[in-house]
Order: sequence, then C-alpha cells, then structure tokens
Amino acid sequence: MKLTIIGSGYVGLTTGTCFAEVGHDVLCVDNNEKKVETLLRGEIPIYEPGLAELVKKNVAAGRLNFTTSTPEGVDHGDVVFIAVPTPPNPDGSVDLKYIEKVAREIAPAIKEYKVVVDKSTVPVKTGEKVAETIHRYAPDAEFDVVSNPEFLREGSAVADLMEPDRIVFGSNSDRASALMKKIYEPFAAPLLVTDINSAELIKHAANSFLALKISYINAVSAICEASNADVELVAQGIGMDERIGRSFLNAGLGYGGSCFPKDIAAFIAISDQLGVPFDLLKEVERINKNQLDRFIQKIRETLWVLEEKKLAVWGLSFKPNTDDVRCSVAVELVEKLVAEGAEVVAYDPKAMGTFQDLPISEHENVTLAESPEAAAQGAEAIIVATEWPEFANADFMGIKDSLVAPLIFDGRNLLDPATMQGMGYNYHGIGRGREEEASET
Ligand code: UDX
Ligand code: UDX
Repeated sequence: MKLTIIGSGYVGLTTGTCFAEVGHDVLCVDNNEKKVETLLRGEIPIYEPGLAELVKKNVAAGRLNFTTSTPEGVDHGDVVFIAVPTPPNPDGSVDLKYIEKVAREIAPAIKEYKVVVDKSTVPVKTGEKVAETIHRYAPDAEFDVVSNPEFLREGSAVADLMEPDRIVFGSNSDRASALMKKIYEPFAAPLLVTDINSAELIKHAANSFLALKISYINAVSAICEASNADVELVAQGIGMDERIGRSFLNAGLGYGGSCFPKDIAAFIAISDQLGVPFDLLKEVERINKNQLDRFIQKIRETLWVLEEKKLAVWGLSFKPNTDDVRCSVAVELVEKLVAEGAEVVAYDPKAMGTFQDLPISEHENVTLAESPEAAAQGAEAIIVATEWPEFANADFMGIKDSLVAPLIFDGRNLLDPATMQGMGYNYHGIGRGREEEASET
C-alpha cells in the first residue's frame, strides 16, 4: 500500500521504516530540511538499535523515501499518518499546535479519498478536532480520520513494531477500517478496533497504568528501606502472580522520557477538563518526583556536603539503548547535584551528543568523560543513573583505587549488592535495606 508519515522523529521514522520493511511503499515527510537531507543520504539522526540497517535496506529497495513537502506526501499515500510532536503546556495539558498545523496543511492537498491517521499521542476527542479542521479548510475533501496509537518503547522500537503485542485503531468508518486492516495484515498481532475516542483513551490509560506500576514499586521501595527489606525480592514475589506480572516493577529513580511524564500530566489535565479529576495519577506523579529527591538525600546522608565534591554520573539517557535525553531523570539528577555545588563528571555510551544540546551541559561544573572508568577518576562516588548493561561489566576492582573512597549509589539497582560489597564497595541501591545495612556493618 502507499503510505505517508508526516513527522519523521523517533515514532514517525521507525513506524514508516517498519511499514516499508513489510512491503508498503512509504513516503516520510518532515519539515526539518536538515533531517530530510540526512535521511536521504541513508543516515539516521537518532540512535535506535536496528533502525539504521532497516532504513538503509528499504531506501535501497525503493520502498522508503523522504521529502519536506506535505502536498507531495498527501498525494502519495492512500493513508496519511500524523506523527508530529504533542508537547506539554506549562499546566500539563497538551499543546496541539503541530497537529492543528498539519491538519491545515493536509486539507488543501486532498484530491481524492484519504484516511488521515493520528499516530501522535493526543487527548481524547482530538480526532474530532482534526476532522473538523480538515473539513473547515477543505469542505469538499473526501476523507476519514482514524486514531492509531503507538506502543513502541525507545531502545526496542523496531522489535515492538515488527512484533507488536497488539494493534489498536479507532475508526468510525468501515471504508477507513478496511484500509487500516490491510496495512496491518503483514503483522501477526491481535487487532482491536474501537471508536476513535476509545482508541485515544487507550493510549493515555495504558501509559498511565505503566507509570502507576513504576510509582507503586517505588513507593514500596521507600517502605523496604524503612523496614530493612529488599524491593527486588518483593517485586519478584508479587510479579510471580500472573495477574500482576513482573514487568514495569523495577524500582529506581523514577520514570522519565518523552512519553510518561507528558502523557500522565496530559491525562490528568484532560480528566480535569472533563470534570472527572483523576487524583490517583496526581499521586503517581508525586511519588515519581519524590523518588529522585529521596535518592539525593541518600547521597547527602553519606557525603554530608555536596559542594566541591566530584561525582561520577554513569548514564544520561532516560533509559538504556537510546540516545534520548528528553525528560531524562539522569539529566535532572545532574542538574540537582550541580545546583548544590557538586562537580559532575558524566559518561553515557550513546547520549553524550544529545546531552551536549542541553543548557546544563554548558555549566562549568559539568564535564563529560570518555569512559565510565575515566569519569570515576578522583570521584567521591559513582552514581548509576541509567542501567546501561555495560556499566554492570565495568572494571570495578580497577576503578576502586581511583575513587576517593569505594562508594556507589545505584539509582537503577543495576548491580548486585553482595558482589559490590565483596569487592569492598559501600553500596547503596534503591529499596535494598538489607544490603545497605550489611554494607555498613
Ligand atoms: C512522537 C509523537 O508525535 C508524540 O505525540 C508521542 O507522544 C511521542 O512520539 P517523537 O517522534 O518522539 O514524537 O518526536 P520527535 O522525535 O520530536 O519527532 C517529530 C518530528 O516531526 C520531527 O522530526 C519534526 O521535525 C517533525 N515535525 C514537527 C514536522 O514534520 N512538522 C511539524 O509541524 C512539526
Ligand atoms: C513508553 C511505553 O512503554 C510505550 O508503550 C509508549 O508507546 C511510549 O512510552 P518509552 O518511554 O520508550 O515507552 O520507555 P519505557 O520503557 O516505557 O520507560 C519509560 C521510563 O520508565 C524510563 O525512564 C524507564 O527508566 C522507567 N521505568 C520503566 C522504570 O523506572 N521502571 C520500570 O520498571 C520500567
């Protein structure tokens, strides 16, 4: 099928590439000329495992193309996906200006029947607004609007798209539904077809539920610390109940990234607007924020004063296997440590480039190191902020002597406390009361 994706970022580019991979003829549109030039050269502007190879392969096969022209895009696709950003307003509600602009740009370019699919994460009832907008700018245009939320995780986006758990789309038209089913035929996954509003809600409700699981285990981690229990064992024990499941029960510094913080705030805002306040989610947000503050307090309890202390921060991306630093808790941690006068030497396997685009990277007390070991040279402590697998394999025996004292704060419970203690480290994880006590005795 001929498909168009408007917005070639993390979501649009991966989605378009996977559509091409299963045989569709895909044109990706982006208003950023530099990005399109890069893509046309066969390079990709982001780090996402497996994506570069797929882009190259499908461009070479002639199934994947790029342009800056929306009219050309609308002309090309029988189905036009919108995957532009939906950033938050200061009050947490969603700024829909890019969606509105794209709807306006699409409208005059519609010459024959098109399905316009919203892939961006939007509040319930946005589909109605998109349809109204297109209709206002092109009263004679023949089209249907569909909501098709994405559930891809950065770092495993290609696998999530190629072998999805489920495909959800919301449509109020049989004609549009038939085309959507055809697009997804090559993907062997359970399909749920709903009305548009329900599909939009599914995305916000799914992400909020996952964030709720994370905040739940983080709240439990605080109780573990107060009662000398181990949150890893608690998570394992409750996760063995199939009704609960072990995934998204990893205690740590809390959730970040371009989706959870924004989507939870957006769900709270739209619920308030609809007159049904979702207070449970306000608590989820509170716990998430508190988790980083509790962690910094733990560092203070040991180091007493952070001013002028050199701290090695391992990890800057919001999670492993991505270079994305948007709303990264690791970056927030760096900001907070520096605000207290600490000197941060940070290392990340993939995200140092994207980090350098952030204002905090310019701070005189922030430097980047070439390796985890180099970051630790002369530091008072190692702080694990992102659970990159390579950190678990660092040469801890070698590093030990280059630290002021062998001290580790593991914000993602990446390391095994007993092993670290066996090597002579004073280890502090999240919710691992028992080990912490052991390390002190
Ligand atoms: C997406 C979704 O759009 C967002 O709603 C969802 O919650 C997360 O995923 P993402 O792909 O991560 O966002 O955003 P980004 O990587 O910033 O890509 C968006 C792309 O759209 C950029 O390349 C940008 O240049 C492009 N864009 C933006 C347009 O082509 N037109 C515009 O009007 C605005
Ligand atoms: C998320 C959703 O998982 C995906 O379905 C949706 O489409 C987009 O948003 P993503 O933001 O890429 O994907 O990453 P995810 O793996 O969900 O992690 C989000 C944040 O939660 C990260 O900061 C991660 O470190 C944190 N997290 C995740 C935890 O703290 N504990 C966990 O157990 C899982």
